[in-house]
Amino acid sequence: QPLQTLYDEIGADMIDQLVKAFYPKVYADPDLSPIFEGDMGEIMRKQRLFLTQFTGGPPLYSQEFGPPAMRQRHLPFEITSKRAECWLRCMKEAFKEVGLDQQPAGIFFYERLKQVAAIMVNSE
Ligand code: HEM
Repeated sequence: QPLQTLYDEIGADMIDQLVKAFYPKVYADPDLSPIFEGDMGEIMRKQRLFLTQFTGGPPLYSQEFGPPAMRQRHLPFEITSKRAECWLRCMKEAFKEVGLDQQPAGIFFYERLKQVAAIMVNSE
């Protein structure tokens, strides 16, 4: 019997809802908005593909864009620890909005995102 993935527990629809709750907060955040200049629909789409793969679902992001290499892809953007905090605060609010903060799988998922966010910091 295969191991249950986070993706199986959370589900595609929940990932979709999470991404849709998250980016309006990011684009409205005064610390984050200066570096989020691209089309919101496109970044939502990319994040949905990435989080699908990140949680153990089908490798949709890599099928289209190749290796995730997230730290490298973030290097063009000035990511301070302050911005990482803001990103995580928006994510925490999005988790609450969609109810992911209420399930053990969601709590574990958020902890994983916290780890990745820390790795993304590339300037002070
Ligand atoms: C892209 C900022 C953390 C996943 C981006 C972009 C910015 C950004 C400015 C480009 C948006 C655009 O193309 O318009 C940040 C900041 C973070 C952060 C400030 C704070 C720590 C993360 C984390 C993840 C992530 C933790 C994954 C768990 C992505 C993905 C993309 C992206 C998948 C699209 C990459 C692509 O162009 O293919 N991020 N990010 N980011 N970010 Fe982040």
